[in-house]
Amino acid sequence: MSKDLYLLGNWKSNKTIAQAREWKAVFDTILPEISENHTVIVVPAFHHLPVFLPNDTHYVLGVQDISPYASGAFTGAIAADLVKDDIRFAMIGHSERRKHFAETDEIVAEKVRRALESGIRPVVCVSETIQVSRLAALVPEYGETGMLLYEPLFAVGSGTADTPENADEVAGEMRKILPVPVLYGGSVVPENVQSFIRMDHLSGVGVGGASLKPDTFASLVGHATA
Ligand code: PGA
Repeated sequence: MSKDLYLLGNWKSNKTIAQAREWKAVFDTILPEISENHTVIVVPAFHHLPVFLPNDTHYVLGVQDISPYASGAFTGAIAADLVKDDIRFAMIGHSERRKHFAETDEIVAEKVRRALESGIRPVVCVSETIQVSRLAALVPEYGETGMLLYEPLFAVGSGTADTPENADEVAGEMRKILPVPVLYGGSVVPENVQSFIRMDHLSGVGVGGASLKPDTFASLVGHATA
């Protein structure tokens, strides 16, 4: 049997609610059959979630971030408990959050703890192996249920993906520190998705730009499951 694969589409800070509705209407019509061991994770922005709920589709939902605090008096924050019934995965520590929102490894670790407490599976985004070592030190239980999304900075949004061989080598190093599924992200498109998912240490892909159009993302899923 082939390995478990995760195909995650991260919309980042894009789309109005009406545009999310249009995306869903098209995607739900053209999404190819998904094999049992493949998980398609659609990660819209928080305000889009009601568009997808109740979710009666073959894909699951994730969020792009989660509050480092529990629910309560934390204006503007979305606590894990607020979304735990509706989503399965939380991306944490994306390079754009580390860069533009000054997220440190300590903040990432707090968010991971909140997600784990709420039964949400964290997908920590990393660009270097040292970030995995820090995560393992700060949240020793991460190896039990977590996932990693390896995204080299040069490849995010650039149109120039890493080579599958290099991504596989880095994922192998990361898995020595934390034996969890590692996805690759950075300029993944329908044309190159297969070259990544066939690598030994990679368990899927994180997709930004190519998830924004429903036909492109559906085609990427099709290439991955072919
Ligand atoms: P990209 O983004 O596919 O547009 O390069 C990937 C990501 O940041 O998740």
